[in-house]
Amino acid sequence: MKLLLVTVAVLCAFQGTLSKDYHAVPVKDGVSGSGITTHYWDCCKPSCAWAENLKDTSGTPVASCSADGSTKTSPSTKSSCLGGGAYMCSNQQPTMVNSSFALGFVAASFSGGVDTNYCCACVKLSFQDALQGKQMIVQVTNTGGDLGSNQFDIAIPGGGVGIFTEGCSSQWGTPSNGWGDQYGGVGSESDCAQLPDVLQPGCKFRFQFMEGVSNPGVTFEQVDCPSELSGITGCTY
Ligand SMILES: *[C@@H]1O[C@H](CO)[C@@H](O)[C@H](O)[C@H]1NC(C)=O
Repeated sequence: MKLLLVTVAVLCAFQGTLSKDYHAVPVKDGVSGSGITTHYWDCCKPSCAWAENLKDTSGTPVASCSADGSTKTSPSTKSSCLGGGAYMCSNQQPTMVNSSFALGFVAASFSGGVDTNYCCACVKLSFQDALQGKQMIVQVTNTGGDLGSNQFDIAIPGGGVGIFTEGCSSQWGTPSNGWGDQYGGVGSESDCAQLPDVLQPGCKFRFQFMEGVSNPGVTFEQVDCPSELSGITGCTY
């Protein structure tokens, strides 16, 4: 019995190690190139949370949540930014795995403008210039009419509400500009204290992992989604 327990413990430790190493497997004939990043957090239901926006419309769309940020809403619930009750789930914020690798979610466009073709696809971003050497695997959860081609708008709490001003004000009682500037969000790590506790780690990500570098450029390539991301959204490509 003891031996069995030890074996189980060793197996668990081994799996723990495995799941922390993200071997990004490129998707054959997937998208790649160079692009730009921006950041946002508008608290709205992301557009890949509508099944009709998925490549496989019978698939599970990205989870959206009620105002508490954690209770899942039905996929047919309207966005809080259009008068409904569906918000961005708080766990769709970025996480740092180590100082050179992170996981997160983005609104993205490859063609410029609203681009639903890649809802729930994953992309490995390799940061350039000041953040050279850092990589991030992101899942596309959202689109945006205000996005240019190859733009990755990283979902970062306190990153600016952008064009949709109703979500964070109804969910968290912020002014309609959200936290900080409507475009750009909070200006420093200490300003992250204005956010609810649950969103503060994601807010600080911009000043810790991303070192406060403003909108770094990237090269990108489409990769298989790690289960850590698809497990949070429930959506696969
Ligand atoms: C960070 O994590 C990535 C992905 O698992 C890994 O490839 C890399 O070696 C790690 N880097 C450090 C400095 O631990």
